Amino acid sequence: MKDQAHTLRKLFEGGSSPTSPQVLSVTSGKGGVGKTSIVVNMAIILATRGYKVLVLDADLGLANIDVMLGLTPKHNIKHVLDGQCLLEDVLIEGPQGIKIIPSSSGIQELVDLSREQQISLINSLDYFEQDIDYMLIDTGAGISRNVMYFNTAAQKIIVVVTPEPTSITDAYALIKVLRRQYGIKRFNLIINNVSSTAEGDQVARKLTMVCERFLGDVVLDMLGCIPRDARITECIKDQKAFVAVNPSGESSKRLARIVRRLEQSQCPQNSGNIQFFLKRMLLDQAKGSNHAGYSISRPY
Ligand SMILES: Nc1ncnc2c1ncn2[C@@H]1O[C@H](COP(=O)(O)OP(=O)(O)O)[C@@H](O)[C@H]1O
Ligand SMILES: [Mg+2]
Repeated sequence: MKDQAHTLRKLFEGGSSPTSPQVLSVTSGKGGVGKTSIVVNMAIILATRGYKVLVLDADLGLANIDVMLGLTPKHNIKHVLDGQCLLEDVLIEGPQGIKIIPSSSGIQELVDLSREQQISLINSLDYFEQDIDYMLIDTGAGISRNVMYFNTAAQKIIVVVTPEPTSITDAYALIKVLRRQYGIKRFNLIINNVSSTAEGDQVARKLTMVCERFLGDVVLDMLGCIPRDARITECIKDQKAFVAVNPSGESSKRLARIVRRLEQSQCPQNSGNIQFFLKRMLLDQAKGSNHAGYSISRPY
């Protein structure tokens, strides 16, 4: 493992160095909107473009990245949190060499990580810092403590919404909590399952209007939309990524365009606790304080 002095030196240089990984969370208010499918396919596009990609399955308790890709991991995050193995030991490899940290399903205790578990996970993730260009976090849906935690750990938050009114209202609820309780102002939008680009744009406009009206200074960057596509469902059933099966299809092209947009806007929109958190924690340690850290002192 990297020594602490090295980590400190790197952190105190300030800001994200060009070699720092981009940490993106993919999240939603409502479940079943396509987050996992988007994460898996985005990871493959990035890897095809030559980036080293790490995917964290952070839908703890209802994890399914591995299932979507037909992989059968022996270990997962639960074993790490239980102290049975290190995070690097649970890593599995997916298509195009993407690295995946799988989680487990049906384990109630993972649904709300304790502060100690959050710190332990953040510290373990630091180990990968040098070896990756992008870290994609597939969060659960909703406004639970875990969802908030992983979103505040990211430098960019991508909110996935579908045209269903419940998906839009739940997305607003999520953005509202992240704005009001965690001070996050910038979000990126992907509108999934649309019947036309016009429908996608309309959903983005609606959500933007509501956010401007009730939350004031929130900025939503529209990344693009993905059509409702029966072939995506087929690929999920076959446990294959749609960008691999049909790279020239409309959905693959749309997602490739979205990824290009993300590539072109490299600057972090949020501080991203993965570094920030650790920095504060190490500073406190150096001062001999037992104050636990940045994000965990925030109200949950
Ligand atoms: N663009 C799309 N077109 C058609 N079906 C889709 C699309 N995106 C997702 N789905 C369907 O939605 C289901 C839920 O997707 P998933 O990625 O598991 O959502 P989440 O991770 O948000 O719960 C998938 O099983 C798939 O059948
Ligand atoms: Mg999912």
